[in-house]
Amino acid sequence: MEAVMNDTAKVVLDGQEYELPVVTGSEGEKAIDITKFRGSTGYITLDSGYKNTGATKSAITFLDGEKGVLRYRGYPIEQLAEKSTFLEVAYLLIYGKLPTTEQLTGFSTNISRHTLVHEDMKRFYEAYPSKAHPMGVLASMVSALSTFYPESQKPNRPIEAIDLTIVRLLAKLPTLAAWSYKNSQGHPVIYPKNSYNYCQNFLHMMFAMPTEEYELDPVVVKALDQLLILHADHEQNCSASTVRIVGSSHANLYSSISAGVIALWGPLHGGANQAVIEMLKMIRNDGGNLQKWVDKAKDKNDEFRMMGFGHRVYKNMDPRARIIKKACDDILNKLGVVDPVLDIAKKLEEVALKDEYFVSRKLYPNVDFYSGIIYRALGIPTNMFTVMFALGRLPGWIAQWKEMIENKEPIGRPRQIYVGENERNYPG
Ligand code: CMC
Repeated sequence: MEAVMNDTAKVVLDGQEYELPVVTGSEGEKAIDITKFRGSTGYITLDSGYKNTGATKSAITFLDGEKGVLRYRGYPIEQLAEKSTFLEVAYLLIYGKLPTTEQLTGFSTNISRHTLVHEDMKRFYEAYPSKAHPMGVLASMVSALSTFYPESQKPNRPIEAIDLTIVRLLAKLPTLAAWSYKNSQGHPVIYPKNSYNYCQNFLHMMFAMPTEEYELDPVVVKALDQLLILHADHEQNCSASTVRIVGSSHANLYSSISAGVIALWGPLHGGANQAVIEMLKMIRNDGGNLQKWVDKAKDKNDEFRMMGFGHRVYKNMDPRARIIKKACDDILNKLGVVDPVLDIAKKLEEVALKDEYFVSRKLYPNVDFYSGIIYRALGIPTNMFTVMFALGRLPGWIAQWKEMIENKEPIGRPRQIYVGENERNYPG
């Protein structure tokens, strides 16, 4: 579907009127098209943090922040989380359509045949400090993949070469992620098992030992698959925009994804899932006085923020958070896990949502508020939470990169308003 242009906006600058096309998206979203603005007026627009700037026309994900709606390629997230699988969703995001049974089998088999990483890459792990954060390790390992596949660095590669890179990324990211955990534990890495499905294989590489098999629990496998689906794409967020902008210079896909991993790591983005659990534990250890922490979050002179609360786009409950909160109760019940942190999270949400500060600013729990509690119940350590987010987000990043390349988008290069010194002479 193409965006429709059937209206114009008028801007008056220095007494002269300019007409600008208005673009309407397939869900009625409207934008003023300023692509030729500077050329005709000499002005640029200023929008720090891109709060009002549409960077692209995209057909991948639709999000209505006021209504709390999220759809991948038109399919509501609630239906995908309930009925689909992560690899089916990955195919949908990347190729635009739900796969046929045959296509899905081919895609899954292909991925399971590429799960090994080059043995030389294992040596890199030995050089990282044992306390290295797995996100730092993951980003550099993903970038290092490009050095093993130099053909991926050529621009204008044939479609088959791009598809192979996509499969390699999807196949190897779980291996690299699980190995970064093993390395942090000082344990030997566990090789992938191709007879396992995507999530089974990841859990196997994370938790099996050379001395002991890991017993797969279907509840854990299903919960992980659902979490990955919920994280799979979120339109033009910080990391997706990073992937698109890095890729717009025709940097190779591995390196563009590596940049996305780094952007995700920040605590205001995907790093929030780790920060939430650390915050909840801190509140608990401090005696559990919830009002004290809500007040700190409101205090502009205090650096403390309520992690897992607020969102640039959602001004209503994040639909992913709604699903995860419910799943949290179900999964902990099924696994017989009692986590005191869940209780704190629920009470904190209750206190915050009654507070005028949070109500007036429309600050609700986001995807990261409850996800960490599920990861804990699945046995995933806290410093791996953002890595889990990256595993889930990978198909979204790939889809965003692919769309940008296929649409032949120009190199991303914002402008600025210079506010520094005027020309002056070097002393002497
Ligand atoms: N705790 C306290 N105050 C907050 C919070 C919070 N978590 N979030 C926003 N506010 C306040 C903010 O101080 C501002 O107040 P005022 O109008 O008085 O200046 C107002 O709410 C608007 O916030 P903003 O910072 O202008 O909003 P933003 O769109 O620039 O930032 C955000 C969005 C997600 C970075 C921010 O809400 C935040 O820092 N949240 C905590 C971190 C977090 O949970 N991040 C995960 C986001 S969801 C996962 C993903 O990245 O996809």
